[in-house]
Amino acid sequence: MTTEFSRPHVTHFGYKNGELTVEKVAVSAIAQQYGTPFYVYSATAIRERVAQLRTALSDLNVQICYAVKANNNLSLLKLLVGEGCGMDIVSGGEMHRALTAGSPAEKIVFSGVGKTDDEIAAALHHGVHQLNVESVEELDAISRVAKQIGKVATIVLRVNPDVDALTHPKITTGTSKNKFGIAYSEALKAYADAAARAEINVVGIAVHIGSQITDVTPYRQTFERVAQLTKDIRAKGLTISRLDLGGGLGVSYDGSAGMDVDAYARTLRETLGDIDCELTMEPGRFIIAEAGALVTKVLYGKNQGNAKFSIVDAAMNDLMRPALYDAIHPVWPVREPAAEADAVRVNLVGPVCESSDTFGEFDNLPALERGDLVMLGVAGAYGATMSSTYNARPLIQEVLVEGDHYKLVRRQWTVEDALLLEQDL
Ligand code: LLP
Repeated sequence: MTTEFSRPHVTHFGYKNGELTVEKVAVSAIAQQYGTPFYVYSATAIRERVAQLRTALSDLNVQICYAVKANNNLSLLKLLVGEGCGMDIVSGGEMHRALTAGSPAEKIVFSGVGKTDDEIAAALHHGVHQLNVESVEELDAISRVAKQIGKVATIVLRVNPDVDALTHPKITTGTSKNKFGIAYSEALKAYADAAARAEINVVGIAVHIGSQITDVTPYRQTFERVAQLTKDIRAKGLTISRLDLGGGLGVSYDGSAGMDVDAYARTLRETLGDIDCELTMEPGRFIIAEAGALVTKVLYGKNQGNAKFSIVDAAMNDLMRPALYDAIHPVWPVREPAAEADAVRVNLVGPVCESSDTFGEFDNLPALERGDLVMLGVAGAYGATMSSTYNARPLIQEVLVEGDHYKLVRRQWTVEDALLLEQDL
């Protein structure tokens, strides 16, 4: 019986001469130089994803504003700025990173359900493209800050379309049970209210219904509601010139299909193709997830009852998604398994002192030994950005590969870095 070992299903990751490579670089060479664990990204894979979206949407003139929360590494942001992407941010920190990466402020959209007065003031000061407003109270705060500093705030209203995105409940954002946006039934009134304010320039509406969406149906329902609301706004004699369609396009964690971008584009064309508005979208995961991975080393093996464990040097603090959403990231051995090897059933776990510190139980890996390297795939999005220093573990290093070159784009934090924040206060 031949064993079906887990192998990369994403582009620019694969085996060459029995070695796992990212583009033309052997993963083991990076591990040897910098040690483990580390995140690694393929620049070419990122560029290709942007190009794929652009091609699918070419007739629709959509501005892609990359959702910085998915991965905010400065080098990756610079790469995306170089590709012509705008930025979708949700905090003053993300604004700072986006501007530092060279993003023009006019290409930054500021989303987020709880902006502080300071963040609003900074956004107005820098002249971001728009603030996406999520409540009437937030609109009041923006009015107040804009008047104080003598600016007119360009905004769109984020509307909650009450559509189920058919994804994990913790990353569903567009139903009436979620905290996001202004209720669809209230939106027209809120728009008229905003339009009546001298310090506010309301120009459109925004939606974002959730993340890791692989079916276009919820998008169709959402875009139909957006089209209707746009008509209702215009029927009141108000102007609307921008629509921000959010992100959410899903990727493949296991080789099954992610979002079909051509189907997405068709849906957009059919629902909003003739709406006569500037269109923006905010994809994060779609651009970066498959282009990144986490590389870790086996520290120990052990058996407990009937279960077999491989303890690796990466943990839940480095990649939260399994503990938080029961997400399964594929695991690829860095040395290609011999065809005649047997697969074993193994729990891949980290050193953190919680049973939730597990990457899952796998039955498609060869027997792993101390010192073996494995890669957790499709970890470019919501990996490094969601990591923490739990158990006083440092934030790990990040490496960017392009062709046969690679470079460290974030060094590993040290405990001294952390202690500096606490000493002599
Ligand atoms: N726009 C807004 C307003 C958002 O809230 C988000 C994601 C995006 C765009 C980008 O969504 P994407 O294209 O990446 O799906 N940590 C979770 C995902 C949380 C998504 C939060 N909002 C995970 O690891 O699955």
